[in-house]
Amino acid sequence: MKALIALLPGDGIGPEVVNQGARLLRAVAERFGHSFELIEAPMGGVAIDLTGSPLPPDTLALCQRADAVLLGAVGGPKWDPPAKVRPEQGLLALRKAMGLYANLRPVAPFPALYDASSLKPEVLRGVDLLVVRELTGGIYFGEKRREEHQAFDACVYTVEEVVRVVRAAASLARGRRKRLTSVDKANVLETSRLWREVTTRVIRDEFPDIELKHLLVDACAMHLIKRPADFDVIVTENMFGDILTDEAAMLSGSIGMLPSASLGDNRRGLYEPIHGSAPDIAGKGVANPYGTLLSVAMLLRHSLQLEPEARAVEAAVASAIDAGVLSADLLPSGQSAAGTEEMGAAVLARLGKRA
Ligand code: NAD
Ligand code: IPM
Ligand code: MN
Repeated sequence: MKALIALLPGDGIGPEVVNQGARLLRAVAERFGHSFELIEAPMGGVAIDLTGSPLPPDTLALCQRADAVLLGAVGGPKWDPPAKVRPEQGLLALRKAMGLYANLRPVAPFPALYDASSLKPEVLRGVDLLVVRELTGGIYFGEKRREEHQAFDACVYTVEEVVRVVRAAASLARGRRKRLTSVDKANVLETSRLWREVTTRVIRDEFPDIELKHLLVDACAMHLIKRPADFDVIVTENMFGDILTDEAAMLSGSIGMLPSASLGDNRRGLYEPIHGSAPDIAGKGVANPYGTLLSVAMLLRHSLQLEPEARAVEAAVASAIDAGVLSADLLPSGQSAAGTEEMGAAVLARLGKRA
């Protein structure tokens, strides 16, 4: 097949991990007989430095005509507050402009990495969960205002915003273990009471085969590390999903391991590891690229509908991990670690051909 893929390396370790993602996409195209056109564009802090905007119009236009977008990470101390124009605003604007309301963040720890986690192996066994984070609403996108002695961030959800993300999550649960946990703070927040009501109704009316449970977000944070294997699909609002998935990343050993897919009503999607630009290790060639390479697998699956290729990528990553090709974030300090390039190469070397 032919596909146009936009590459947005961004800031910090973004370019280092997206380089490996691009190599992998080229290898998939070559080995499986596809033609992928990869076009790179500035986004985030680098785009602010170049153009004054974190999401220049040309970058947005490229993303809107591409079949899929692969992003590294944006942000860094150079553009932190009090700067008025910040890299993260570009990412939020991109998600909104592309209509990407469902952010899929799967957590399925590799057994060979159980030791890398801060949790015990017996807690990790059998963990295979998917967080569906609402991505274009809530407190991230409500009205913001700063006055001299106070500040406001409005948290707003409409019924329609809840309906569509719950439908997306329930449809995904149908292809899995048919269990959905909706996470909110309905004991305090009005938006959460709306969220709970709407979720209950959508599942009752449209997904009677799905078992729905509600959890308060503070308790969910605890259950996620106490009994993570009990979860199948979790659906939650924007900020809760952001926080819970950094926590859940530790089940997989490192935040560098988790991929994500951001989807809307059509196949065009944005794919990115869930980690940030990691300024503390940027430029050293030591960043873990596996979260990005697993995001490439999600891109192949969800936007290009290339399931065998997606599986081949996942198998290649699993095999590199089994062979012990691990970056420093996955190893006890002092143990010799692989670099970003070496990890990318190890995955390429293990990428199978179509049978
Ligand atoms: P971070 O995820 O960048 O880093 C947290 C810790 O995890 C650091 O110690 C870092 O070295 C480590 N880490 C992260 N990714 C890693 C990888 N692939 N391999 C090895 N170690 C890795 O979070 P932060 O430090 O809170 O944020 C840094 C900047 O990134 C901020 O400007 C923030 O806004 C931005 N950010 C961007 C995104 C995104 O672009 N999607 C996501 C999160 C944070
Ligand atoms: C993420 C990040 C972003 C978010 C920031 C950088 C705006 O933390 O993708 O998880 O909060 O959505
Ligand atoms: Mn985050």
